[in-house]
Amino acid sequence: MEKIIDENKQGESLVLEQKTENNRKLFIESYGCSMNFSDSEIVASILYKEGYNTTQKLEDADLVLINTCSIRDKAEQTIRKRLEKYNAVKRINPKMKVGVLGCMAERLKSKLLEEEKIVDLVVGPDAYKDLPNLLSEVEDGRDAINVLLSKDETYGDISPVRLNTNGVSAFVSITRGCDNMCTFCVVPFTRGRERSRDPQSILEEVNDLWNKGYKEITLLGQNVDSYLWYGGGLKKDFDKASDLQKATAVGFSNLMELCAKAQPKMRIRFSTSNPQDLTLDVIETMAKYKNICKHIHLPVQSGSNRILKEMNRLHTREQYFELIDNIKRILPSCCISHDMIAGFPTETEADHQDTLSLMQYVKYNFGYMFTYSERPGTLAERKLEDDVPEDVKKRRLDEIVQLQRQHSEIRTRQFVNTTVEVLIERESKKSDNEWSGRTSQNVVAVFPKENYKIGDLVNVKVNDCTSATLIGKAIEYAVI
Ligand code: SAH
Ligand code: F3S
Repeated sequence: MEKIIDENKQGESLVLEQKTENNRKLFIESYGCSMNFSDSEIVASILYKEGYNTTQKLEDADLVLINTCSIRDKAEQTIRKRLEKYNAVKRINPKMKVGVLGCMAERLKSKLLEEEKIVDLVVGPDAYKDLPNLLSEVEDGRDAINVLLSKDETYGDISPVRLNTNGVSAFVSITRGCDNMCTFCVVPFTRGRERSRDPQSILEEVNDLWNKGYKEITLLGQNVDSYLWYGGGLKKDFDKASDLQKATAVGFSNLMELCAKAQPKMRIRFSTSNPQDLTLDVIETMAKYKNICKHIHLPVQSGSNRILKEMNRLHTREQYFELIDNIKRILPSCCISHDMIAGFPTETEADHQDTLSLMQYVKYNFGYMFTYSERPGTLAERKLEDDVPEDVKKRRLDEIVQLQRQHSEIRTRQFVNTTVEVLIERESKKSDNEWSGRTSQNVVAVFPKENYKIGDLVNVKVNDCTSATLIGKAIEYAVI
């Protein structure tokens, strides 16, 4: 079984408050990582000013946009199916325009327009501000494309319109792109060089969210720990910065501290961390502030030193263990989750056993687990043969998933008979008499509604659990 990130949110169409003078309708769907969901809020904000209100009904739309993911072949196949569906609707309503945004737009570029003729508009992740121009080209009957990657675009000046929100938790993007060049990964090619967003604009967004009633933010980036602001420019150009710029540079732990202090009652989460960049000062800052949530998503991808090297992950298994030991020492209550890939090229049975034994050491709370999918243009595709047979990949993935299931159960059970702090986010999927929310450690908890409401922070006495959900009763309001 292959798991996907944000499984229950994939493809959700998004709605925002309506502007009465807007007379065109936008249907926008997002697939893939949280960054895509966050980017769609920027796109909706840009188009809101261009006269578009969003709609949840595909058939009503003047413009259909799909924010796409290229991370695995399966992700692209899902998008293609959606494009077929849009084109079926377009045959009935030929005025409707269809556009592809995000990683697939960047990877396939004009192919989508020329060879496949399935869309009117192709826009890469750094070109959303050009949407108004591109749309006027489309209106004049021409195909439009902009897939230029930028060295400085962070959309820091655009206030995202919050879409399909529970009004409680929101994403705040802090970096764009990735410089890591993991050999299996298409992201550095589709999202360009890593750049950080001005901390001032991040703080403004955080304060604005608090004023609008939000109670939790997630700072987003492909590799948040390498956040670095020194007055602008790319991460890779930091060496050329002046002494003053270097002395006043803001790193990730500083940024997190600035946010934690600016809104001491707001919960702060972050994703994703890369083991080679997660420094002790980040863990220490997490320990210092109660409002920074005690959960680290720490993808490792493999437990074998040889495979880690082939993947260009710049740490060893031993260094990863040292990091885990430090997290457990400084933050004993912290939950740790992972991403894992089964069947990377040349992976042997012994390498796979190393992955299982690494998991045994850490006993992760949860994880996202995948079979290796070769991506065109990546370093692995160019240098290595995809030589692990599909059935072997699947069997290894199954073993990884089974082991994770056992660990999740052990970890979740540890909370039974304790009291946990839960931020109420929504009604439970199973019962309309119950609320659902998450603990600081990112574990879902459900409990009877009583007089509590969405957005309340409550102490919940846990008396039972399933493998991933705590079941309990709220006993009082909690304070951060
Ligand atoms: N740093 C990013 C990682 C994005 S990709 C972040 O913000 O989460 C998410 C996960 O997809 C990776 O950690 C990896 O486990 C998986 N992945 C990436 N490329 C893959 C590939 N070619 N085949 C299978 N899984 C892949
Ligand atoms: Fe991809 Fe590795 Fe960056 S997984 S997003 S290249 S940290």
